[in-house]
Amino acid sequence: MFEGPLSGRHVLVTSGPTHEPIDPVRYIANRSSGAQGTAIAAALRDLGARVTFVTGPASVPPPQGVDVVRVETAAQMLVAVEAALPADAAVMAAAVADWRVENAGASKMKKVAGALPVLSFAENPDILATVSKGAARPALVVGFAAETDDVLAHARAKRLRKGCDWIVANDVSPATGIMGGSENAVTLITGSGEETWERAPKEEVARRLALRIAEALGAAVTP
Ligand code: C5P
Repeated sequence: MFEGPLSGRHVLVTSGPTHEPIDPVRYIANRSSGAQGTAIAAALRDLGARVTFVTGPASVPPPQGVDVVRVETAAQMLVAVEAALPADAAVMAAAVADWRVENAGASKMKKVAGALPVLSFAENPDILATVSKGAARPALVVGFAAETDDVLAHARAKRLRKGCDWIVANDVSPATGIMGGSENAVTLITGSGEETWERAPKEEVARRLALRIAEALGAAVTP
């Protein structure tokens, strides 16, 4: 562990997509690579934090020097997150599936000529809202809002609805190349204002966010 402004602090980070099974061999996923969450965990580690990194099946490897908890589904992610608390701060960067397949098969669904499978869905738990409103709420809870339109309006509403302290809003329209790409352009929305950061590598966005978290937790930050 590094010495730094977050030494002695425990920070929980969620990252990556979730996979929601259709049957034992098929699943529903999303395009999250886990790159931004991974970079945030590494940046918090570099400032001295003990990091618990709860990750779905991401396409980038988890950082060294953090406690990695691998999960597949949203339901598993919630269990892992609750087990990781208490924490001083939580950064929920995972792209959690909104729905799971309620009638997922216990064995592989067979193809039947002329008959199409019908999937029915159930709503997944909202992990960010659960943590934000829970008894073991970290002092600082940071959510992400990946949107394709009306990014800031949706993000502001999301911050209030979910009960987190900060929201990192980003535009994930395909033309931006952000989802699955190496750069991010975000607006940090807090209770006291909004700041738009210039487009930068995800590692740089992560460093900035980690420094802000260190500041907010009251640690002395060396410039
Ligand atoms: O509602 P939406 O998925 O856009 O919210 C994004 C934020 O909420 C992210 O921080 C994400 O990690 C979190 N989230 C969650 N559990 C869900 C859905 C989203 O923690 N089921």
